[in-house]
Formats: sequence, structure tokens, C-alpha cells
Amino acid sequence: MKDKLFLMIPGPTPVPETALLAMAKHPIGHRSSEFSAIMKEVYQNLKWLFQTKEDVFVYTASGTGAMEAAIFNLVNPGDKVLSLVIGNFSKRWAEIAAMKGADVEKIDSEWGQASDPAVLKQRLDQDVNKEIKFVTMIHNETSTGVTNDIQALCKIVQEHGAVSIVDGVTSLGAIPVKMDEWGIDVIVSGSQKGFMIPPGLAFLACSKKAWEVYENCKNPSFYFNFGACKKSVAEDTTPYTPNVSLIVALRETLRMMKEEGLENIYNRHADLAMKMRTGLRALGLKLFVEDDRIGSKAITSVYPPDGISVPDIRKTLSKTYDIIAANGQSKLQDKIFRLGHLGFVSERDIITALGSLEATLIKLGYNPKREKTALK
Ligand SMILES: Cc1ncc(COP(=O)(O)O)c(C=O)c1O
Repeated sequence: MKDKLFLMIPGPTPVPETALLAMAKHPIGHRSSEFSAIMKEVYQNLKWLFQTKEDVFVYTASGTGAMEAAIFNLVNPGDKVLSLVIGNFSKRWAEIAAMKGADVEKIDSEWGQASDPAVLKQRLDQDVNKEIKFVTMIHNETSTGVTNDIQALCKIVQEHGAVSIVDGVTSLGAIPVKMDEWGIDVIVSGSQKGFMIPPGLAFLACSKKAWEVYENCKNPSFYFNFGACKKSVAEDTTPYTPNVSLIVALRETLRMMKEEGLENIYNRHADLAMKMRTGLRALGLKLFVEDDRIGSKAITSVYPPDGISVPDIRKTLSKTYDIIAANGQSKLQDKIFRLGHLGFVSERDIITALGSLEATLIKLGYNPKREKTALK
């Protein structure tokens, strides 16, 4: 049905009407005092969301832009970068660092597992000459639906002395991120996730330690330049023409988040994720990440039942119920499907998604009742 689309993918996520209406207005001049007042509020509220006293830079780019910003402003060719890889997105750090000419070493975990802090510690303890300059990691691996314990991982990196670089693309605004308290050096994110606005803005915050490293970077980025961003934050502006409409929408969603409160936002996501996991299991479905302790609060990956294909499930969900679910990525394509539940999501959405999924599976010949009996 027209205009009934319901995104259950892990980004872009649904956008509240307040933000949509804000975007529908004529864009204003980005060098106007009116826009500076908006930027000032947005910058302040981003610090609150990132739980940091440091500046948060806003780029007109997708999340990968902020990932590239981090690597290109910090890493010099030949620098040793240790990349903790648990899926498709955490792998991206290693790819970008290799492009910058870094000497990249990966610690690969099986997809569906989290990075093991003990393994990281063991590797960094071996690095007695402190050759490893950076450790990249992901908070919430969207391709598998796993959440890393970045508090533990960043502490280990801090004790070693390297700079931690974290992908917080699907964690900020959904699960707790305490940048300063947890000693995160650099964290990035993107607008089409927990921020509840469409794609097109990316965010990056860096610690004082990371800033010093930037100052020694021989060929930093031009468009994503940290120095230009910092100067602009101080002046309540952006270095270049930003996506004004998205920033106006972001002001609204940040206000909504402040009104809800961080703890309530995190509790809502945790509660909805548990309801989603419980509901899927009650349908007799197998979760890709069985361990609830590492299962993401933002996205859940599910195996299709035997004999029913992921494309058929996605097609029927979309055609019959206007619900869009995501396929698995790369080696998980057609092996799992993924349901996003981050940002502007409520219990009604979870119930709708589960009910529609059950009806979809029945249409495709699956009998949830038989599966439930078989499970007993
Ligand atoms: C965890 C994670 N990192 C990075 C990205 C890349 O972001 P973008 O597609 O906005 O460049 C995504 C996008 O889904 C993601 O989920």
C-alpha cells in the first residue's frame, strides 16, 4: 500500500514526523546566525549523546565517511594498525587503513561471535616495543547482530597506549556509549540509525590523545579535516556547506532523545530486542546469535526455517505487509535475514513485525505450531 512502508532494516530507520516536517521547510543559509544557533544546540546535544566533553564533528557524508575521516586524519603510511574483525563492517576499518598505507594486522573472530578481550590483551602484551599504534573495533556489528564489550576492549587498548578507533554506527542512540568514561579515543556514527533521521550525516568524536596523533599526521584529509572541523565547532558552524535540512531534522530528534532520556532510550532498546528474540524463538526460529549476552539490542539476525528461502521471506514480507527486512551480507547472504529495531521503534512495531513474519512463514508453508510442539 502506498506510504505504508515500514523499515525493519538496520538503517535507514524510521523517521519521526517532527523530523520529516522540519526537513520539509526551505533550507536556510548555512552561514546565517539562525543556522549557527541550530548548530550550537546540535553540537551540545551530540556531546550529551556521546557522553563526552570533546567536540563532536558533523560531516555531510554517510557513516563510512566518518570511518575514512578517522583513518585519514590519524594514520601515517607504515603505521601498525590492529583490526578486530567480527563481520562485514568491522572489516571495513582494515580495508580503509590498508588504503592509507598502514601495516594492518587482523584478529578475525568467527562471524556471530564477539571480539574476545583476552585475545586482544594477549596480542597487545606481546607488543613490548609498542609498535601497534591503533586498534580498530566495532561496537555493534550490524552484519551479524553482535555487540562487542567496547568498554573492556578500549580499557585494554588504553593500558597498552595505542589509540582505540570505534565504529559506533549502530550503537549510538541505541545502546550505552560512554566515550570519556570508557576511554574511547575515536568513535564514529551515521545519521540513518539511532539518530532517527535519513542518511547523509556522519559524526566523529576524538579524545585529546587522538587529537595529538592527528597533529602528527603527515597527510590528513582535506574534506574531513579534523583541524577545520574543530575550528568550525568553536564558531558554531561547519567547514563546508552541510546538509542543512538533515541538521534541522537532527535538532528535532536530539531534542526528542533528551526528552526521553538516555537510560530510557537504552532500556527501550534492550526491552524491544528481548521481545524480538523471544518472539522469534516462540515461532520456532533459530537465531544467528544464540547468546543473549552478545546479541545486539539494535538488530537481530535469524535463520530461515528449513526449506524456505530468505529471498521468499523478504519478498512476501514486503509485498504483503510492506515490511522491509534485510538480507545477510557477503558470506551470510541468503543464509540469514536481519531485522533492525533501533531508533524510532516501539513495542507496536515489534508486535507488527513478529505477527507479519508469522503470517509470511505460514503463507510459505511453514507451520509455527508444529515447530513449537517439536521444541517442547
Ligand atoms: C556498523 C556499521 N558501520 C558502518 C556502516 C556504514 O555506514 P554507511 O553505509 O552509512 O556508510 C554501517 C551501515 O549500515 C553499519 O551498520
